[in-house]
Amino acid sequence: MANLSNSLFLVLLLAALPWTPTLNAKKPLISRHDSQKQTVTNIQFYFHDTPSGNTPSAIKVAEAPSSANSPTLFGNVLIVDDPLTETPDPKSKEVGRAQGLYAMASQQELALLMTLTYQFTAGEFNGSSIVIVGKNSVMHKVRELPVVGGTGVFRFARGYALASTYSFNTVGDAIVGYNVTVIH
Ligand SMILES: *[C@@H]1O[C@H](CO)[C@@H](O)[C@H](O)[C@H]1NC(C)=O
Ligand SMILES: *[C@@H]1O[C@H](CO)[C@@H](O)[C@H](O)[C@H]1NC(C)=O
Repeated sequence: MANLSNSLFLVLLLAALPWTPTLNAKKPLISRHDSQKQTVTNIQFYFHDTPSGNTPSAIKVAEAPSSANSPTLFGNVLIVDDPLTETPDPKSKEVGRAQGLYAMASQQELALLMTLTYQFTAGEFNGSSIVIVGKNSVMHKVRELPVVGGTGVFRFARGYALASTYSFNTVGDAIVGYNVTVIH
């Protein structure tokens, strides 16, 4: 009688233990399927980078002691949350935000290392994003930047962005046209 209730207790105890998956050497937990489905998307928008004024969208968070004396501002690091709009007009429809950071990363020219997430907030890509990481030689007429990934409809994205300055002023505010081509 005592043995029976002991084993019943053991059964109940085991049933209450959390289940932990065990790796089976013959059946690893990997699944594959072939997918040929790829889409090429072209997106155009304008990027508004505003380091000046009372409500800047780009703020300097770090610099080297020598940065202020560098003609290329070498060593400055800025965090940005820049609006993306449909047309060059800052009051035109906002379609997203570019968020992340860029750093002045060249001693030879004004060039940025950009590491930004372009998060779409309207239209058919609302909720999806692309990520751009690369060198942006801002004095060149057209700069090519690599698209290295994305989320939402842009999962697995790879591609390139052609960036071209539309306007800029002496305090560093710039409006830049983007023409992005991605495969996803
Ligand atoms: C974008 O998506 C969010 C979340 O689904 C929604 O709240 C918002 O209204 C959408 N915006 C536009 C402009 O469609
Ligand atoms: C955008 O880029 C694509 C692909 O590089 C090109 O075919 C198209 O002409 C460009 N559009 C503009 C407005 O520059």
